[in-house]
Amino acid sequence: MLPYEEFLEEILIPGNVLQARIAELGEEISRDYEGKSVLLVCILRGGVMFLTDLMRTLTIPHAIDFMAVSSYGTGARQSSGQVRITLDLQSSIEGEDVILVEDIIDSGHTIASVIELLKTRQPSSVRVCTLLDKHERREAEVPINYCGFKIPNKFVFGYGLDLDEYYRNLPFIGVVKPDKYIPPD
Ligand code: IMP
Ligand code: MG
Repeated sequence: MLPYEEFLEEILIPGNVLQARIAELGEEISRDYEGKSVLLVCILRGGVMFLTDLMRTLTIPHAIDFMAVSSYGTGARQSSGQVRITLDLQSSIEGEDVILVEDIIDSGHTIASVIELLKTRQPSSVRVCTLLDKHERREAEVPINYCGFKIPNKFVFGYGLDLDEYYRNLPFIGVVKPDKYIPPD
């Protein structure tokens, strides 16, 4: 793989701006759930960076668990409307206050399917916390309770989001050069 600079059109959200907003989200969540404890469910793999930074800003007791899903379609961006669970939760969520932690909500199909599935397991509540919201591309109706940033309809990478699995480590969100990378459909 080439150095990430080859693919970077511009930095959309610098690292310090990400961290400041994540701290605000952590405060808001800690206030909303005061006196309770929550289960953070991270959707692998893109949500990992966001999860670990968000956790450090929470003052309420919380546990974490992970899920991985893949679209029935040809690629991560395929809006087939159905997802397949490739890794399920280890914990029972019955009676738990669950917060789904996502990197980005695009068409909304992924998170909509996950919510539908989790609700069959009798959690006390399910809320959604996403770092990025590509709202122009929404197809499924998704209640977003906590949102870091609304972003334009551009393919982005870094801070958990990948280009062919690379560059998740970057501390910022960057826009990909359209002529250098074709996103999976
Ligand atoms: P949705 O089901 O269309 O909302 O798709 C959400 C998933 O598509 C995210 O969890 C990402 O894995 C992927 N995705 C959507 N847009 C981008 C992007 O700009 N960069 C990297 N991955 C993206
Ligand atoms: Mg994802």
